[in-house]
Amino acid sequence: MSDLNALSTSIRAAIAEAGDETALEAVRIAALGKKGSISALLATLGQMSPDERKEKGPAINGLKTEIAAAIEERRVALAAEALEKRLASEKVDVTLPLRPAPTATGRVHPVSQVIDEITAIFSDMGFAIAEGPDIETDYYNFTALNFPEGHPAREMHDTFFFQPDADGNRKLLRTHTSPVQVRVMKQTNEKVPAKWMSAAQEPPIRVVIPGRTYRNDSDQTHTPMFHQVEGLVIDKGSHIGQLRWVLEEFLKAFFEVESVKTRFRPSFFPFTEPSMEVDVQCDRSGNEVKIGEGNDWLEILGCGMVHPNVITNAGLDPDVYQGFAWGMGIDRLAMLKYGMPDLRAFFDADKRWLDHYGFRPFDLPTLFGGLSN
Ligand code: DAH
Repeated sequence: MSDLNALSTSIRAAIAEAGDETALEAVRIAALGKKGSISALLATLGQMSPDERKEKGPAINGLKTEIAAAIEERRVALAAEALEKRLASEKVDVTLPLRPAPTATGRVHPVSQVIDEITAIFSDMGFAIAEGPDIETDYYNFTALNFPEGHPAREMHDTFFFQPDADGNRKLLRTHTSPVQVRVMKQTNEKVPAKWMSAAQEPPIRVVIPGRTYRNDSDQTHTPMFHQVEGLVIDKGSHIGQLRWVLEEFLKAFFEVESVKTRFRPSFFPFTEPSMEVDVQCDRSGNEVKIGEGNDWLEILGCGMVHPNVITNAGLDPDVYQGFAWGMGIDRLAMLKYGMPDLRAFFDADKRWLDHYGFRPFDLPTLFGGLSN
């Protein structure tokens, strides 16, 4: 028994000495662990005679229980001590400023901002917004838009084609937003997913179509994915005078200037006849391009009267309906208005760039409240 007493005394001394929970755990393992001193004593019970076991069994088990309790008691005391120490050493400075909320630091990408601005301006003029799929058929991207088979204009588009399907048809990433013109006009006789057809309508049609477009091209002003916005008006008496008015109203509102001069130059697009390119008056004398001032010109968009073949392809009668369309680069509009020099940075996801050029999420652009402030 004195052995047990001596063991008990030495373990209790070790428990009292353990200065933290780690040291205490080491004491526990040395006594009660698999190879611990008390566990070793318990293992000797098997070799004892029944009488001896009767006497020593309860004593050894009793010691085990007492030591376990003593360790637990010390553990609770040490934990409380440690907490006290932490509370005494750590301080919360309640005068520190709060971290700003995500709504204060998050930024809207300039492309999204410009799409919102364009949407606000054209909604105000009575246009609906339409969208179409990024993955298009050759038919909608080219054929329906009056690009003849094998015509070099198809190659000029630097198209990303997919592998041909079982029937030999190649889908593609749309090279412009113009295919959505046909999708919108064709809504009555073509099954397309309802979600693309939210703005589908019988003439009179007035839609703008913002979206992603793709061409195999990359430099300071080109990226393989970029954004366009398309406009389409179809009615019985739509004419170029209206086109010019709509575009000039848009340019004034978008660039937030009192007046702009535009210059229409003859051009060629398979889906319009006549086709024109539009230059906007600008001043390049300083560091930045100023729209609506000066004597210089800057090409800004393509437009024209919708080709009768396109109207026919869309299932409408070109002897009844005519209209005009235009297309322009959203990224380029953003660069011009907000002074970004390199388009590639738009898609780098660099937070510093976004902090600098981005917009506050709750400052929604409206014509009455201001587009960009
Ligand atoms: N789709 C043309 C392009 O990507 C832009 C364009 C020009 C669109 C004239 C039009 C248009 O609707 O009438 O280069």
